[in-house]
Amino acid sequence: MNIYERLKQDHDKQRDLCEQIKHTRGDSVKRNSLWKELRVELEAHASAEEQAFYSELMKEPEGTDETRHAVEEHQEMTEMIEVLDNLDMDADIWMKKFEKLAHRVIHHVDEEEAEFFPKAKKIFSKEEAKEMGETFDDRKPAEVKKQKAA
Ligand SMILES: [Fe+2]
Ligand SMILES: [Fe+2]
Repeated sequence: MNIYERLKQDHDKQRDLCEQIKHTRGDSVKRNSLWKELRVELEAHASAEEQAFYSELMKEPEGTDETRHAVEEHQEMTEMIEVLDNLDMDADIWMKKFEKLAHRVIHHVDEEEAEFFPKAKKIFSKEEAKEMGETFDDRKPAEVKKQKAA
């Protein structure tokens, strides 16, 4: 799988988890487990994506701005995740903050797919895109493990 297909696969999982969480209530088992899954997924995806994809894109003059923008958004999402982690899931504010994060996540993955991937496809060869996909697959499980332990 090339890097674009592989990242899209994760993005679809993120979209699905965000949607599922919107339909949960209060401090329930379901909300807790879905939130834990999404949090690990978002952080592990962002780290592996930076290692496999953005580290390469950053080396290209045409890719520097996109890389900076994406890494900044990853950081913003991490901060939003931390805020949510410290809020009572039973409080109404939890869902309000979650909806903001979900909105951010969707904007971010849409932008990557609609703008950054087409740009990267002009920069990297098919072989390079495949290699980046392999690097991602190599890094992602280690990042998941790290996030689960955190
Ligand atoms: Fe990203
Ligand atoms: Fe992504």
